[in-house]
Amino acid sequence: MNETILRLEPAHIPAAMRLNLLAGWNQTQADWQRVLELEPEGCFGLFRDGLLVSTTTAVCYGRKLAWIGMVLTDPEYRNRGYARRLMEHALAFLEARGVEWIKLDATAMGRPLYRKLGFEDEAPVERWAAVAPAMSPATTGDYVADAELDLRAFGADRSALLARLARGEAAAIPGQGFAFARPGSLAAYFGPCVARSAEAARNLLQWCLGRHAGQPVFWDLLPANEAALALAREFGFERRRELVRMVRRGAAARGSFDHDDSLIYAIAGFEYG
Ligand SMILES: CC(C)(COP(=O)(O)OP(=O)(O)OC[C@H]1O[C@@H](n2cnc3c(N)ncnc32)[C@H](O)[C@@H]1OP(=O)(O)O)[C@@H](O)C(=O)NCCC(=O)NCCS
Repeated sequence: MNETILRLEPAHIPAAMRLNLLAGWNQTQADWQRVLELEPEGCFGLFRDGLLVSTTTAVCYGRKLAWIGMVLTDPEYRNRGYARRLMEHALAFLEARGVEWIKLDATAMGRPLYRKLGFEDEAPVERWAAVAPAMSPATTGDYVADAELDLRAFGADRSALLARLARGEAAAIPGQGFAFARPGSLAAYFGPCVARSAEAARNLLQWCLGRHAGQPVFWDLLPANEAALALAREFGFERRRELVRMVRRGAAARGSFDHDDSLIYAIAGFEYG
């Protein structure tokens, strides 16, 4: 039996999608493609006799922050240490790059492993879902990047991610906020949405729901942002999953990691933050 860790490449996407589908996750081939484009050196797979059985990705936002995602092991091959080996591999890659902070959104299954690897809880994250009600899309403008707002909200420069997402569904209210939507395997995905006010977030949500009327929509939010929670309830969303955002300080980290969750109405995805 041969077990090897390799860098994931576009040719591995169908095999990676097999793991997503087994886990019932929402990501699509395009999501895998985007992660691989953003961080071609930071996506790893464990192959057992040539079969991809476990994955972990690490998207770097400069040297300030990296986001771990796509931590998945084929159900037939769990509890053999594969996820741990891939996580240790990814952490060594990030340490060698001098990345200051590492975060991730942990499921209940993943959390024990992350705790053992030095991650600490930062904040709850929740998935909410609804069938988008029929409504006319709210008036928003074309997407224009607002790097200053996003940096204040998220704490690291994720403009490369946002530029890629802007090739899909994207909208902005100049000076007030922006939002994206994208297709998923199970439901359309609302996020990220960063806004200076609940009113702007409401318009951006209505923009998304109006485009996806009658379709299932997933929305991952930080429940500490009570205005986001209130909007989710108002538009008929229900809580589906509870995760925990976790953080690990790298050797290169100085001071604290400043960010402002009250500006974040929808996260970008569990694999992006
Ligand atoms: C979470 C997941 C990736 C773990 O994969 P795995 O390859 O089975 O994990 P490992 O065998 O490397 O186990 C990792 C460690 O966590 C421990 N662990 C795993 N599940 C656990 C649980 N439910 N409770 C306590 N400890 C657990 C293992 O004992 C092991 O500890 P050790 O290294 O000290 O022996 C896998 O269960 C999975 O794909 N789950 C569905 C998708 C998911 O939730 N992914 C996490 C996203 S954040």
